[in-house]
Amino acid sequence: MRILGISAHYHDSAAALVVDGVPVCAVQEERLSRSKNDASFPLAAIGWCLEHGGLEPGDLDAVVFYEKPMLKFDRILTMALREFPASWASFPRAMKNSLGGKLWVKGLITSQLGVPGKRVLFSEHHQSHAAAAFLTAPTRRAAILTADGVGEWATLSLGRGSISESGDAKIELFRELRFPHSLGMLYSTFTAYLGFKVNEGEYKVMGLASYGSPAFEPLMRKIVRRAADGAPVLDLSYFEYHRGARRSFSDRLAAELGPPRDPDAAIDLATPEGKRYADIAASVQRVLEDILVDLARSLREETGLDDLCLGGGVALNGCANARILRESGFRNVYVPSAPGDAGCAMGAALAADRLHFKRPHVEAPDHPYWGPPIDGAQLTRIAREDGLELAETAGEAELLDRVSLELARGRIVGWMQGRTEFGPRALGNRSILAAPHSAAMRDRLNRGIKYREQFRPFAPAVPLSKADRFFELPPGGARLGRFMSGVFPVRPEWRDRLAAVTHVDGTARVQTVDPEAAPRFHALLEAYGARTGIPVLLNTSFNLAGEPIVNRAVEGYTTFRRSGIDVLVAGETVVEKPRTRELAPEAVA
Ligand SMILES: [Fe+2]
Repeated sequence: MRILGISAHYHDSAAALVVDGVPVCAVQEERLSRSKNDASFPLAAIGWCLEHGGLEPGDLDAVVFYEKPMLKFDRILTMALREFPASWASFPRAMKNSLGGKLWVKGLITSQLGVPGKRVLFSEHHQSHAAAAFLTAPTRRAAILTADGVGEWATLSLGRGSISESGDAKIELFRELRFPHSLGMLYSTFTAYLGFKVNEGEYKVMGLASYGSPAFEPLMRKIVRRAADGAPVLDLSYFEYHRGARRSFSDRLAAELGPPRDPDAAIDLATPEGKRYADIAASVQRVLEDILVDLARSLREETGLDDLCLGGGVALNGCANARILRESGFRNVYVPSAPGDAGCAMGAALAADRLHFKRPHVEAPDHPYWGPPIDGAQLTRIAREDGLELAETAGEAELLDRVSLELARGRIVGWMQGRTEFGPRALGNRSILAAPHSAAMRDRLNRGIKYREQFRPFAPAVPLSKADRFFELPPGGARLGRFMSGVFPVRPEWRDRLAAVTHVDGTARVQTVDPEAAPRFHALLEAYGARTGIPVLLNTSFNLAGEPIVNRAVEGYTTFRRSGIDVLVAGETVVEKPRTRELAPEAVA
């Protein structure tokens, strides 16, 4: 049975293909269209998935959309009526922005793909999140918690999943929080207040939080109250998003917290204003974490299960995930590589396979590499045409030897291997790698390549078996680090030698690299360790600010040419910028 899953029209469209119950491929539209967070109907992603699977649209048994457009329409209309007349001016915009082409999705799918309407299915939004989290995790019984901005009505759901001996999968979401009460919208509202782009800048709030103290917690507790069952209840007088307004927070919030940050003004943490922003970030982060830990703890008590699957965009908050693991009583916390809406394409396809067609469960391969493969020969051709010197290394051993030496010399490496990651994080297949030892390297990356704010940390990657030596991982922490989903303390004795990847509060969003899932990246870490004594590399996504992560060798090459990256690797082809040869600094470790 061949099932195509699609997510589209809100943020970060994607397509995924599941054949006979097993994921075959998945890719976000932005990686192919090269337009960041591309939300359009993912024709390129669908086309690539079909091509990769060797299928024509007519071969598909079902095409599954990741949410139910009519329920979403119901929510937008109801909210507009409830908030009337405050909402009257914004209703047409809300319809256009939030609903976009969704109501016409069935017609769109049938006309674009030529698939008959009876083969088009719809999965509820949080069901898609839950399926993406549970049906890809290596567990047969788990509690499920999903949280995001909003889907149709639900913004958070609690439930459980099970797979019987015979492979019958069940997902039961037994409680939900409904719009406008939403942890995702709460966090996004403060993302906007702090002058960052919603749906992109949430990482910045988390990074900034480490510089502050939760001085605004009493106000936050007023803004977010707790119902008797622990569910968060927002005081809506602090918000505007539910009215479909252009600004998500109200004048009252600005009056009580002070003026919002101008997005164009730099954050200077040495000033009282900079400190206020950091304190606000720390306060909203604290409240979010406390609520999630409480909800997870009661879910653990209610279900008695050891495993928790987390889904929805809120599951990208690695600090919250780590606290859930440490404090809720669950032994394992599983977060898929794409817990956000892009991952719903995979979730919707898997949900259709197991729950709609009731086919037996098949364990999904436990890795994030579902996108297009790299073509090293393409890099060879382009670099030759451009007159650059290049080396085709003779096999993996020589490649690893060469690249680990470049890294140890302090050079910055663009590293493209295998298939593109599915999800927002580069996990060693489309990564910029560098020595993790000095703060100077962090500053060089920020200045010359990533153009990021100084308060945003870089992440380390380490072989799974050696993670404990450098990082304080609680039981289950290594698993949470598999897709970089948890933030953990760097062991104090290593912080000076891992300065480029240690955040101001002594933590790091560590990736634990499993040799079975990422053999070449793992081997590179080991080669670097053999050379320097420290098998840890700084791993940041291979893109420039504002651009999607690179996909093909040609995009890697243009990024390399426009930035401070010294060495570019695609497959076994290595290209070096001529000027960097004379500038090689001393080995760093
Ligand atoms: Fe979502």
